[in-house]
Amino acid sequence: MSLTTFATADAGFEPAGAAARRGIAKPAKVTVPSLQQKKFLRQPITCVTAYDYASARLIDEAGLDLILVGDSLAMVMQGQPDTLAITLDEMLLYTRGVRRAVKRALLVADMPFGSYQVDDREGVANALRFVKEAGAEAVKVEGGANRASLVRRLTDAEIPVMGHIGLTPQSVHRMGGYKVQGKTLAAVDRLRADALALEDAGCFAIVLEGMPRELGTILTAELKIPTIGIGAGPDCDGQILVLHDMLSLTFSPPAKFVRRYADIGASITRAVEEYKQDVESRSFPTEDESYHLPAGVQL
Ligand code: KIV
Repeated sequence: MSLTTFATADAGFEPAGAAARRGIAKPAKVTVPSLQQKKFLRQPITCVTAYDYASARLIDEAGLDLILVGDSLAMVMQGQPDTLAITLDEMLLYTRGVRRAVKRALLVADMPFGSYQVDDREGVANALRFVKEAGAEAVKVEGGANRASLVRRLTDAEIPVMGHIGLTPQSVHRMGGYKVQGKTLAAVDRLRADALALEDAGCFAIVLEGMPRELGTILTAELKIPTIGIGAGPDCDGQILVLHDMLSLTFSPPAKFVRRYADIGASITRAVEEYKQDVESRSFPTEDESYHLPAGVQL
C-alpha cells in the first residue's frame, strides 16, 4: 500500500491540533499498517506515554505516532515503588481518559501484571476489555517466547499486540532490580530468539528496553516489524519515553537514557508558590477577577 493510499483512506479524519490551526494539511490517522510502512521507509516512529486527558491531547496534537498508557503510571502517577500492584480496572480507567483525547496517534494500552500471566484465555478476555471498554487500538505485553501463544491468540482475536523485551519492569523480582539486560552472549542469543518468536507470533512492533545499543541495532536489522527503543540506542525504528521522565515530573535521578525536555516540576512549584503568596497577601483575586451583581440588583 502506498503512502498516498494511507492518506486517502483516512481523509475523513479531523485533527483539532496545532498543525490544523496553522492551516497545514491534516496528518493521517496512525494505524498498525502505517507504522509498518514507516519502518519500510526508514522514518523514525515517535512514541510517548500518557495517562490523562490533558497530556494525551497535547501529545496527540503535537503529532506523535503512538501513545502508550503504560503501567509505569503506577510509579509516576500513583507513587508506587514498582508496576506490579496496578489493577486491570485502574488501567482501564486511565485508558478511557486518554481515549477521549487521542484522535490521530495509535493508542496502545499496557496489560498490567497478573492480567495475562495466568493463562491465554484470561489474557484474551482482559485484552478485549481494553478494546471494548476503553477504546484501545492495541495492547502491550511483556515477555518473549513465553508469550508467543498468547500473542497468537490475541492476534487471532483481531487485537494488535506490541511486545516488550529486555528490561521488563514486571519481571523486577526475577531480574533482581531494574538492570540492563543482554550483557552476555547467552543473554543476547535469548533476546534474539525472544524477538523472533514474538514477530513470528504476530506482534506488530516490539519495545526494546534497557539493553546495549549494539543489540538494539541487531534486533532492528533482523526484525521485519518496527522496534521501539527505550534505553536501547539510536538505531531502533522508533523511540519511546515516559512523559513524566522527559518533563522532570519525577522525584529520583533519571536513568541514563532519559533526556529532560522541560522542567515542568519546577514550573508547577513556582506557579503554586506564587499563587500562595498572592492569596496570603490578598492580591488574588482582584476586582477584575470577581463577578458582580447585574445592574439594578442591589443588596
Ligand atoms: O509502562 C511503560 O511506560 C512502558 C514503556 C516504558 C515502554 O512500558
